[in-house]
Amino acid sequence: MRIFIEKDYDAMSRKAFEVIKEVIVNNPNAVLGLATGSSPIGMYQEMVKDHKENGTSYKNIKSVNLDEYVGLGEGDEQSYVTFMRENLFNHVDIDLNNTRLPNGKAVDLQKECDNYNAYLDSLKVDVQVLGIGSNGHIGFNEPNTPFGSVTHIVDLTENTIKDNSRLFNSIDEVPKQALSMGIKNIMQAKLLLLVASGKNKADAIYKTVKGDVCETVPASVLQLHNNVVIICDEDAASLIK
Ligand code: F6R
Repeated sequence: MRIFIEKDYDAMSRKAFEVIKEVIVNNPNAVLGLATGSSPIGMYQEMVKDHKENGTSYKNIKSVNLDEYVGLGEGDEQSYVTFMRENLFNHVDIDLNNTRLPNGKAVDLQKECDNYNAYLDSLKVDVQVLGIGSNGHIGFNEPNTPFGSVTHIVDLTENTIKDNSRLFNSIDEVPKQALSMGIKNIMQAKLLLLVASGKNKADAIYKTVKGDVCETVPASVLQLHNNVVIICDEDAASLIK
């Protein structure tokens, strides 16, 4: 596990960008595992800036995302597919046909999970970007999700609904379920790149890095992967320094 502590969110984002850019430069056909949320937005901004200034191309890049809310999808402002388009896909030369997220509006959600798993099994993800929940979740794998889990339907915890309500008009609008890659899917990526910012992540980062490997802290599974980069700002790293 390589841990970098950067002075603030912007420095964290620049460092994360350096890591992901190296993957893309080394392999223009790379498969990127992507995340939504506040944590990777700065990194996506760096990727867009670099694409515009230096012409780094995403023409042959494929992407898979960690998760999507149940009931939301294309055309919905709060959906993760909209988030990805607004923050990255619409601003680089990636082919939208090469981007994939679970479809939260699928009629048969279990079938959608099965199809997503089959798709993930057909690829090798070169780098999986991760944020972390204040309860240690990765993707929407909440505490006590089995480490052997694959893409599944998740009942979001009160904690996560509360954390995510800041992006909705009211807490009642936050979907109660999501589709999420499982921990086993995440662990199959060649490189895991976790970014964390803010004091509310400090406890989760402490448990991820220094705690026991246990299903009550999903991110602690990262200790079992042989290629992990964690980039924190000072606040998120405040308990591991
Ligand atoms: C998002 C995701 C979540 C977030 C986590 C942190 O695709 O999978 O695990 O990474 O909830 O969210 P932020 O970055 O908004 O604090």
